[in-house]
Amino acid sequence: MVANKQEHAKSLFDHRSLCYDGLEWVRDDEGLRAFADLAKPKATDVHLDLATGTGAVAERLAPRVCIVVGLDLSFGMLRSSSARLGPRVQAAAEQLPFSEDTFDLTTCRNGLHHFYSPDVGLSEIRRVTKMTGRIVISESLVPDGPIRHLWRSIMEIKDTGRHPDMYFTAEEFTNYLERHGLPVRSVRLFSRPFSLANWLENGCVDLERRTMILALLNRLTERQKRDLRMSTRDGDIWLLRRTATALTGCAV
Ligand SMILES: C[S@@+](CC[C@H](N)C(=O)[O-])C[C@H]1O[C@@H](n2cnc3c(N)ncnc32)[C@H](O)[C@@H]1O
Repeated sequence: MVANKQEHAKSLFDHRSLCYDGLEWVRDDEGLRAFADLAKPKATDVHLDLATGTGAVAERLAPRVCIVVGLDLSFGMLRSSSARLGPRVQAAAEQLPFSEDTFDLTTCRNGLHHFYSPDVGLSEIRRVTKMTGRIVISESLVPDGPIRHLWRSIMEIKDTGRHPDMYFTAEEFTNYLERHGLPVRSVRLFSRPFSLANWLENGCVDLERRTMILALLNRLTERQKRDLRMSTRDGDIWLLRRTATALTGCAV
């Protein structure tokens, strides 16, 4: 069962690695700057970027830390990351190949909801991060209120491997981290409009799933469109991407 889920995530992201960097948010300067501000990298930091993907976060923080290790399940994603980065490790977040208390800074942007066991992933993060270390985790959010169920339906079609328990509002995300022994010191909320065409194209969403998503969006009432912050511009649909980034750690 675990092996199946792992294989699914691996092949999904091996495939997605071909166009992943084309997603607007991945290299978005403002988003990366906000993430780095919260992480407060130091020149002495031994840094782990978990579920590093094509390495956008690792690349941003690399000049400001001592060393950054990028870890990901997908070889395709790692292969697309810059060779200038430090060591890259192919492994599962649920079974980190590191000793306890290794890292001063552990980051994970938009990875947790893809893990086959986010709970185990978090306990591994705690294990390998020093007691004095900082942990920065970012997750995309569902909108609050009645529209949340519709958003979830869209995400279930789009992200086939997403963990069923990982659909949070900002408050639920904070509570989730705290329940897992990670006291949250600070949270940054970030929202940004994104183009549906860019999202579907670079998310490797096939025609059948695109059609399902468009059918859902086309059925919305004007009120639902407002709640979703949906608009139409230049022949494309725009939606709002919401994320929360939390600074946590055992003794931050
Ligand atoms: C949405 S991408 C985020 C990549 C990167 N952190 C970023 O912000 O651009 C999610 C990443 O999680 C990785 N992933 C999924 N399940 C994983 C697991 N169990 N262990 C480690 N990485 C995993 C995927 O291969 C993918 O690269």
